[in-house]
Amino acid sequence: MDYKKQYHNYINKIMIGIGSIIIMAMLALAIFVQRAQADKQNIQSGICTDTTERCVAITFDDGPNPKSTQRLLDGLKERNVKATFFLVGKNIEGNEDVIKRMYEEGHLIGNHTYTHVQLDTLNVNMARSEIIQTNEKITEVIGQCPKYIRPPFGAYSDKLLSEINMMPILWSVDPEDWATKDIRAIVNKVTKNIKCGDIILLHDIYDTSVEAALEIIDILQSQGYIFVTADQILLD
Ligand code: NI
Repeated sequence: MDYKKQYHNYINKIMIGIGSIIIMAMLALAIFVQRAQADKQNIQSGICTDTTERCVAITFDDGPNPKSTQRLLDGLKERNVKATFFLVGKNIEGNEDVIKRMYEEGHLIGNHTYTHVQLDTLNVNMARSEIIQTNEKITEVIGQCPKYIRPPFGAYSDKLLSEINMMPILWSVDPEDWATKDIRAIVNKVTKNIKCGDIILLHDIYDTSVEAALEIIDILQSQGYIFVTADQILLD
């Protein structure tokens, strides 16, 4: 009788033990599968698991333009996105209101030379004056001198820029939006290849580029990307 009782107790304990192990193993497996799926989704959508690296910058060259830049600013405001604008000095006069709005709404304003010139084709004095003149125009409008320059065609001299205390900001994603009116193609070129820390190059002087930019923002925001000004990418 006692032996039977002990035997039953013994079997019960073993069954409870086995049962617990099975339940724990199943739980562990479920957690593992869930994590693996989440990682796979993150990798597919390009989202970095580290939140400090989930940033991208969207930048606009060659403006401002009284019509398309305003439309862009409306769209950026609706989406709570801060962008970066590299202005051409000769486009500033007559567009002061647009530039003031950019500044007041938290966008970063940089220099894109006075006449959109390739700096390394000029002598040093002329190159310097292309940059300084643009800085002066921008300072007149927003009361602050730009620190950053996007040299047209990516051509510049380190020596000259350091002499006048300007930092170059180039780009890592270029959909060549100026060469096409196909909004879909521009959007796809950017969103298919985007990764954390990228700097996207677009031009706010074309209506098609503005439309594409807003679509790009909607897609990337839905994937968890955060838009920062281009100086934030450099500092990371
Ligand atoms: Ni340009």
